[in-house]
Amino acid sequence: MTATSWVVSAALLVLGGSRPMKSAVNANVDPANAQITVLYDAFGQTSGMQKDWGYAAFVEYGGKRILFDTGNNPDILAQNAKAKGVDLSQLDFVVMSNRHGDHMGGLTYLLSVNPKVPIYAPKEGFGVYGADLPSTFYRKDPSLSPEQRYYNGAPPEVMRFGSAWPSANFRLVDKNIEIAPDIHLVTLVSDKPGTLELRELSLVINTSDGLVIVVGCAHPGIDKIVESATAITPRIHFIAGGFHLVVAPDPDIEKIVMALHDRFKVEYIAPGHCTGEPAFAALKRAFGDHYIYAGLGTTLTATQVGNHR
Ligand SMILES: [Fe+2]
Repeated sequence: MTATSWVVSAALLVLGGSRPMKSAVNANVDPANAQITVLYDAFGQTSGMQKDWGYAAFVEYGGKRILFDTGNNPDILAQNAKAKGVDLSQLDFVVMSNRHGDHMGGLTYLLSVNPKVPIYAPKEGFGVYGADLPSTFYRKDPSLSPEQRYYNGAPPEVMRFGSAWPSANFRLVDKNIEIAPDIHLVTLVSDKPGTLELRELSLVINTSDGLVIVVGCAHPGIDKIVESATAITPRIHFIAGGFHLVVAPDPDIEKIVMALHDRFKVEYIAPGHCTGEPAFAALKRAFGDHYIYAGLGTTLTATQVGNHR
């Protein structure tokens, strides 16, 4: 089966409406079973799950079980994961896209059921997920007496700074890396007003039919994230997540739509979260039947990972 049929089967599932949930997948997930399930968003047509502003998606690929973001509220994440039969105590790793509350707000629930899971998170100076700096970062003045100097003039080589979740197993990321076979993190820093200097991680899976990209809020710009991902391979098969066009004026939306459709030739698109209502409409017009509905509760599935490299 090709990656294209992955998306087509997703569309068929969506057309199936409120079909019964897939049963809980155990930790020994079949590597041939690839899918993305939207666990947190503010739009959808599901019962038993609660809509709320934020984003979380459960990603399975190559036998890995990945939680991408945790939504806005721990109780709602718990409710929505249970409704979809997703056992968050059985994960290979977690990816936090950024530090905003609508992506990290569910972390306390996640840690209550899975306290030691590795969590890839953006590394920022004095960030909420923790940080470190070489002690060479600050200027020294040896003319001062020891009691006036930081660490009496003998600082540790690396200075570590606290996080809001001190017992969590964070792995801080500030460069593009491959964290499992064909599973990459792309990181960029926003230069946009309102989110200046905010670092964001995006999940990029290199399938045999092109890249599958999951974005949280795309604050640095969805076009810039896609451009960075093309260093892995230029073919973009599929993008899901928030494109951060929720307040963008129409001309800006059109520029992004054209970049995705005409410049990067993205094959399928499944926007959610902060993409915004006018951008949903514009992307639908541009992508037609290559626009995949991905509201809360949607499971984008493959019957097998024929696309697994
Ligand atoms: Fe967001």
